[in-house]
Amino acid sequence: MYAIEVDRLSKHYNGLVAVDDISFQVPEGSIFGFLGPNGAGKTTTINILCTIVKPTSGNAKVNGFDCLKEPDRVRQSIGIVFQDTTLDKDLTAYENLLYHAILYNVSRRVRRQKVEDALRFVDLFDRRDDFVRRFSGGMKRRLEVARAIVHQPKVLFLDEPTIGLDPQSRKSLWDFIIRLPEEQGVTVFMTTHYMDEAEVCHSIAIIDKGKIIAAGSPAELKKQVGGDVIYLKTTDNQESIRLIRNHKGFDAELKDDEIFVPVTKGDACIPELIKLLGDRVTSVRMQRPTLNDVFIKLTGKKIREEVQDSSDQLREAIRAYRRRFDRG
Ligand SMILES: Nc1ncnc2c1ncn2[C@@H]1O[C@H](COP(=O)(O)OP(=O)(O)O)[C@@H](O)[C@H]1O
Ligand SMILES: [Mg+2]
Repeated sequence: MYAIEVDRLSKHYNGLVAVDDISFQVPEGSIFGFLGPNGAGKTTTINILCTIVKPTSGNAKVNGFDCLKEPDRVRQSIGIVFQDTTLDKDLTAYENLLYHAILYNVSRRVRRQKVEDALRFVDLFDRRDDFVRRFSGGMKRRLEVARAIVHQPKVLFLDEPTIGLDPQSRKSLWDFIIRLPEEQGVTVFMTTHYMDEAEVCHSIAIIDKGKIIAAGSPAELKKQVGGDVIYLKTTDNQESIRLIRNHKGFDAELKDDEIFVPVTKGDACIPELIKLLGDRVTSVRMQRPTLNDVFIKLTGKKIREEVQDSSDQLREAIRAYRRRFDRG
């Protein structure tokens, strides 16, 4: 049985194709990762599945309910954690969840219990009477997960749940997410642009510019890269890439300042590459393929590039603002 079925879904915004003819299924009780850089179409897809946005064409079903024809039944059967936080900072953790339980018609008889169970699940029971305004970013995210499961949905949508969190909080949030299918009986649909996080998903789809460019389990996708990946730094990248490409059985591509060489057996190939390039080589490292390598191989770019760019832009904007402010 599938918790989510998407068939040839598209969404156009005045000429811009945000989602471009995508199809996929998510089996019940699994964790599905929807991976892609900023602007790939992840949030738009979630919004369609949650019945917030209407597709331009195609079909989608959630828990067997048609997103276009039965939006109310879809909504009753799902939980959502939006990309931007939507907690009420002036209420306590407990109040935020209670308010939500009332909105979702959780019966008065079990309401308190459900709220307390959800708070315990994310380890925030002891902080239930604190105002959300005092919570750290990681705690807020956990509270949002708790809120999204209070009414016992069958599918939980998490849109970039770990964005902006420090590595430790990301890890701790993940520890709760991976327990959701078994302990809460929900299917998890989550988006992220952190490729490494998706390793724990049962299946993933990689989306770029509105199109799904690969899908499968993390292991299946990594197999597509081949064996290992060797990264080389050299004094002359252009000449080195030419030499590697001319060498039988090798391919090479420049990624940032490193040459990326997918090979079957890394340890055997390193001596061969060094012999080929001589003292042009300034550093060598080998990696088992990661989901990041899958993305690089499929698109020719790193998934974090855009993110880096936008944080650089943000820093520049803040600097410009400060300069103006200082001048008075
Ligand atoms: N309401 C909207 N109107 C116009 N364009 C939109 C709207 N929502 C999203 N887009 C565009 O659709 C594309 C996909 O956006 P989105 O789904 O938010 O991507 P992601 O969540 O992967 O970062 C982007 O180019 C974005 O600017
Ligand atoms: Mg988004």
